[in-house]
Amino acid sequence: MQTQLLQADAPGAIQTAAAILQNGGLVGIPTETVYGLAANALDGAAVAKIFAAKGRPMDNPLIVHISHFEQIYDLVREVPEAAKKLAEQFWPGPLTIILPKSARIPDEVSAGLDTVAVRFPSHPVARAVIDAAGVPLAAPSGNLSGHPSPTTAAHVMNDMDGRIEAVLDGGPCSVGVESTVVTLAEQPPRLLRPGGITLEQLRGVLGQVEMDDAVLHPLADGKCAASPGMKYKHYSPKANVIILDGSLEHYIDYVNTHAGDGVAALCYDGEDKALQVPSICYGGEEDCGEQARELFDALRELDEQLHAKTVYARCPEPEGVGLAVYNRLIRAAGFEVIDVG
Ligand code: TXA
Ligand code: MG
Repeated sequence: MQTQLLQADAPGAIQTAAAILQNGGLVGIPTETVYGLAANALDGAAVAKIFAAKGRPMDNPLIVHISHFEQIYDLVREVPEAAKKLAEQFWPGPLTIILPKSARIPDEVSAGLDTVAVRFPSHPVARAVIDAAGVPLAAPSGNLSGHPSPTTAAHVMNDMDGRIEAVLDGGPCSVGVESTVVTLAEQPPRLLRPGGITLEQLRGVLGQVEMDDAVLHPLADGKCAASPGMKYKHYSPKANVIILDGSLEHYIDYVNTHAGDGVAALCYDGEDKALQVPSICYGGEEDCGEQARELFDALRELDEQLHAKTVYARCPEPEGVGLAVYNRLIRAAGFEVIDVG
């Protein structure tokens, strides 16, 4: 299959993408979080192609994207007051809400669960494509399963060229990590995946919100994942990533004493000057928004530019949006953290 790269602002590009989607095809689309791999959410056969293109396990459900709040009524059995409050504050934006699903949701989308994840993205191109297609779009992140999520159209092309009909280039993503996922299908509400909308912001609207264990810890053997995506190895470059938790001084000492063939560093802006190994920076130490925006691109560069074998990473502060950065990086590191003091 030839994958067309469409510039989102070129005349007719949105219509071309919408026509592919209406015909049961797949299109890589920009959102404010990461690029998605979209199909008509109401067409089970189209949705099944997403799993094949990504190599995604069939038991990992997809998020359904809408472009008007009212579309949610068709997708879920009931819209509770809590969902309306969250939508009012954070939609359109990087928040996904899980609710009991309606009969309209194909099994391929919900992967056998009784719930569905719904998101109303803010990216104008994503909204235009959903509008033009005239149907909600199921879309996981547009990477091969296990790879870092794509934050540019080039990342999607790297992973999906020849596997999907088209990629719509709408420029780099402004948030850079996937949406916050919160379930309202149980009481109290629970954060399943941290993202651009923080736990503190959710608590500001809902009061009590729990944090799922899987946000910060590996899933215990035999335990069932509330969010199936959390149980798979994720976001991982080919290199073996190890997080070093501790002061900058101790980080620099540790990295420089362990310098050698294939060793690289993933550090904050400016810290590379003190390191005796090739390094990639992923934002300023105090700017977790920037870290979120740059992390996935940095993980790809470690492979593609440095061909690193072992990567020592600076440990993000797990507060605010930094919780999302930490959550992604500990998965990229397979939960390997060394305390360097
Ligand atoms: O920002 C995002 O959310 C991006 C863009 C494209 O919108 N999408 C995205 O999709 O990150 P994906 O498939 O890579 O991640 C969806 C996560 C997975 O961890 C999945 O297991 C979880 O949401 N999920 C989806 N439906 C669910 C459900 N009904 N119950 C629990 N978890 C669910
Ligand atoms: Mg993903």
